[in-house]
Amino acid sequence: MSTLTNPRKILMTCALPYANGPIHLGHMLEHIEADIFSRFQKMSGHDCVFICADDTHGTPIMIKAREQKITPEELITQSAIDHLKDFEDFGIAFDHYGSTNSPENKKLCDLFYERMKAKGHTHKKGIEQLYCEHDKMFLPDRFVKGTCPKCKSKDQYGDSCDVCSATYSPEDLIEPGCSICGTKPIKKKSNHIFFKVNDFKQYLTEWLPLHTVPEVSKKMMEWFNEDLRDWDISRDEPYFGFAIPGEPGKYFYVWVDAPMGYVSTADQWAKKNNRKLEDFWGADSNAEIYHFIGKDIVYFHTLFWPALLKSADFKSPTQIFVHGHVMVNGEKMSKSKGTFISTRVYLNHLDPQFLRYYYATKINGGINDLDLSFNDFSSRVNSDLVGKIVNLASRGAQMLTKKMDGVMSTPDAAGLTLLNTILDQTSQIAKYYDSRDFSKATTLIREMAELTNKYFDDKAPWKTLASDPVATKQVITTTLNAFRTIAICLQPVLPKMAEQTAILLNEKSYVWSDLGKQLSNHKINDYIHLAGRVETDKITAMIEEQKEIYAATAVKKPAPAIAAKSEPDRNVDKPSEIEFEDFMKVDLRIAKIIEVEEIKEADKLLRLKVELAPGETKQIIAGIKSAYSAEKLLGRYVVICANLKPRKMKFGISEGMVLAAGDGGSDLFVLSPDAGAKAGSRVK
Ligand code: MSP
Ligand code: ZN
Repeated sequence: MSTLTNPRKILMTCALPYANGPIHLGHMLEHIEADIFSRFQKMSGHDCVFICADDTHGTPIMIKAREQKITPEELITQSAIDHLKDFEDFGIAFDHYGSTNSPENKKLCDLFYERMKAKGHTHKKGIEQLYCEHDKMFLPDRFVKGTCPKCKSKDQYGDSCDVCSATYSPEDLIEPGCSICGTKPIKKKSNHIFFKVNDFKQYLTEWLPLHTVPEVSKKMMEWFNEDLRDWDISRDEPYFGFAIPGEPGKYFYVWVDAPMGYVSTADQWAKKNNRKLEDFWGADSNAEIYHFIGKDIVYFHTLFWPALLKSADFKSPTQIFVHGHVMVNGEKMSKSKGTFISTRVYLNHLDPQFLRYYYATKINGGINDLDLSFNDFSSRVNSDLVGKIVNLASRGAQMLTKKMDGVMSTPDAAGLTLLNTILDQTSQIAKYYDSRDFSKATTLIREMAELTNKYFDDKAPWKTLASDPVATKQVITTTLNAFRTIAICLQPVLPKMAEQTAILLNEKSYVWSDLGKQLSNHKINDYIHLAGRVETDKITAMIEEQKEIYAATAVKKPAPAIAAKSEPDRNVDKPSEIEFEDFMKVDLRIAKIIEVEEIKEADKLLRLKVELAPGETKQIIAGIKSAYSAEKLLGRYVVICANLKPRKMKFGISEGMVLAAGDGGSDLFVLSPDAGAKAGSRVK
């Protein structure tokens, strides 16, 4: 297919997204960056293969499946379907999308292990870790929660505090608890298998500066003042992953088989397409291998992965391309603010081309974070993409097909100069694409559009349509040719628009070398809509939808805080069983709220008076002020526990509990019966 005499062989990957959550706009940065790069290489005639896969193993996936009462296999099957659909709808064109839970990957994992063991790069050591006796499992840091040892914030994970950013080990937490069941973990010893990364210290010292940008390798070299620490590659059962051969009850840590997913997925692609993996990943293949990753996983890709490859005698990647993180409106993406936007929710409201274009204007190959600011987003799309670029096609093409015969002529003299000027820019644009500086590429493209708009406005063809149709046509011919150049240059970013442009201009799909051609005396087709504008209310609706989804899924955590007693979140995801008689002891009643009073001194509490029967009232102090105003509650029927032993609290006696669901804060939902239920009736 290639027209180049010396096409490059390129194998490129995105980091493999975890199968336990949806694809979001943070992931999309990486996938859009890689997709632009891949499309550019392909349309330039190179032999480029772009693959990815779901990362399917590990504790979070196992636990998530348990929560949903399905098997991990079922969970990862569904997730692969969802992920692929998201990518497809965003125009991410993988040559193959695999899974780390494949037979090919297991085989590879075993092979790597065999080789590292044979060369003496492993050793065993007993280590002590936190263990939940209730769930019968060792708890990864993220599965221990407790009070931050530094700032004393409650409910922090075992590795770092979200409030003060301190990092520590889970043993340091004050009052640690298993995040699944709340039980206090114990310390327990077990044998683990370690990979001796330090055996590769010299190799990595030379490898790093050659395969990462200076910014990254400098940072990594900071670890090299001391010996590199052994890497624990085993986990105890229960674990969803690959069993370690010859080590009963032990599994490979997910980060061992995950990068191998790059190789096994490439292998699957090769088999499917009658190609050879060796041509790309063979020890002496001349193919370029690129991993696109975020800055949070640099350690895995620039220390462990090259060391693993070296120890197994596999070729190492050519470059690790690292990007920063997506921020939204200048802040970290936040679930409760609705800015942790999933790809699907975005697609429900906005055109994927907008985000592809916007990210492209910001991607420059560096590792700085990227701010998705919705004001900037709207203005870049509306004023640049639509106002400057798409407008050229819509004005030019519609004039030609609606007011004239739809056949282009030849450019005028000024038009030829313009076309040559913009054509001169295209080789620089190609260089920018190849070095992943899409920001500079899109700036040059925008400038081409600005020049063309100036030409179009100076010539004002709409004024000369009747008086000088020949000259008018020449102006339109120039404009459409200029637009064609722009659309081809933008094809890696906006493949759909380029495809539609080819249809509009009555041509075949574009490759980069089509830039050398000019259309003259050429019939075009009727104008097709290329892109609309960003409407602000769509952005608002998108954020609202995301907020609702978050509120609905967050309910699964317990909220026994209603009677103002802040019980730890225990035993609710997996309640311990009680006897029927115990249940019957709980007197649940419908009650009507007849008085609500804010307790000014407490930011969470309301004093409620509820009525069970005329004259039979109870006072309840409820911690629902953050989610409910007095007006919203007054007169409302709710469900209460009526036989709770009265408790004396700071602000009075509480004689019951109002039932509600949610995490607390604004995420709190009081339970109410259907209309018609009578106060006092028993809930069974
Ligand atoms: N499963 C691992 C990768 C294994 S690769 C052998 C993983 N998965 S992830 O789903 O958490 O992240 C996948 C990629 O998306 C990573 O490169 C990560 O840096 C990137 N991003 C996730 N959130 C991001 C942002 N908010 N912004 C930009 N990229 C981010 O890590
Ligand atoms: Zn537990």
